[in-house]
Amino acid sequence: MRFKNFDAEMFLRDHWQKQPLLIRNPWAVWVNPLEPDELAGLACEAEVESRLIEQTQGTLIAGIRAENGPFSAARFSKLGTDRWTLLVQAVDHYIPDVAALIAPFRFIPNWRIDDVMVSLAADKGGVGPHFDQYDVFLIQGLGRRRWQVGAKCDDMTALLPHDELRLLAEFEATDEWVLEPGDILYVPPGMSHNGVAIGDDCMTYSIGFRAPSRADLIGNYCDELLDKLSEDDRYGDAGLSRQENPGEITADALDALHLMITEHLGDRAAFARWFGGYNSLPKYPDIDWTPEQPMTISELRERLNDGEPLMRNPASRFSYIDGAHDSVAFFADGAIFECTGPAAIMAKMISAQDRFTIEAELLKSDATLAIIAALFNQGSVAFDEVE
Ligand code: SIN
Ligand code: CO
Repeated sequence: MRFKNFDAEMFLRDHWQKQPLLIRNPWAVWVNPLEPDELAGLACEAEVESRLIEQTQGTLIAGIRAENGPFSAARFSKLGTDRWTLLVQAVDHYIPDVAALIAPFRFIPNWRIDDVMVSLAADKGGVGPHFDQYDVFLIQGLGRRRWQVGAKCDDMTALLPHDELRLLAEFEATDEWVLEPGDILYVPPGMSHNGVAIGDDCMTYSIGFRAPSRADLIGNYCDELLDKLSEDDRYGDAGLSRQENPGEITADALDALHLMITEHLGDRAAFARWFGGYNSLPKYPDIDWTPEQPMTISELRERLNDGEPLMRNPASRFSYIDGAHDSVAFFADGAIFECTGPAAIMAKMISAQDRFTIEAELLKSDATLAIIAALFNQGSVAFDEVE
């Protein structure tokens, strides 16, 4: 899947994190990658996260009811003819053709991309007016949907008293568009929006992003630091000089105490390594490609030399951080690989692609093969049997 006309530079300059943008069918050829029945089938699987939302009182928002999956096939046959929607999370992790939808959006870095949620709605169905904390591209897959956008919201915005859904108490549309298959609406974080199906079999693919909250970053990084700190590492004041008022916590004491915190929190290199690993942890570790028998380096060398392509587990996250002298720290599913020379070239190449073959030149390096074997044996990549 690729775009035939889309100006990513213009988008990043004028819209990303700022303003919504309607992009009328930019695809070279738009093909809806999943059938409504297949999505309903996924929502019946125990390991897949799904939700059903029904409007039980006409169009009244207060009458919206939410139910969590997995669902039985019989549940779907009890649905009314209109005003319901099924939402399935992380469909890209299960369906490679849905994962392929992300490719044209890779002008945004991997570490910011979350996953693809897919919705299926009957006529007039939708989740109701709400806001998300993340950027989202809403791709109309099948059927038609009216999207409205309104004011920017935040923590202080009034919500309806609903146990499961964060629906807005008030929503006034400032713009609206009817999306046809292949059309895309970009909605920045915090902007209120409401999508209502026009007709049945309305499918929307939401390419969602992630942005860590300051609270998450500080909390998780501190947990990491705490794991490594010893009880023996504590304040000391050898050379203490007598102070006039014993009640004072002196500036010298405070400087030393504050340094105990900041010298750890301020270590950028340690933070970079931690963040790369932490951010690459899979959100759904159940999608396990770990082989029954570990792959040996010699078998791997043979198959890669034969030109067999590898593919990334769609639930896996790859990224890297450039280091000194062309070295890179490469991160995959929480693991860190320090790479130099050919291994560094390979790590950058596989961070940018979902399917890849490794050049013969790079395969001469034992370090490169060892990293690929580790990725294979931890289930981050597998041979692409489809091609
Ligand atoms: C939907 O697909 O109905 C909801 C997507 C969203 O508003 O984020
Ligand atoms: Co939304």
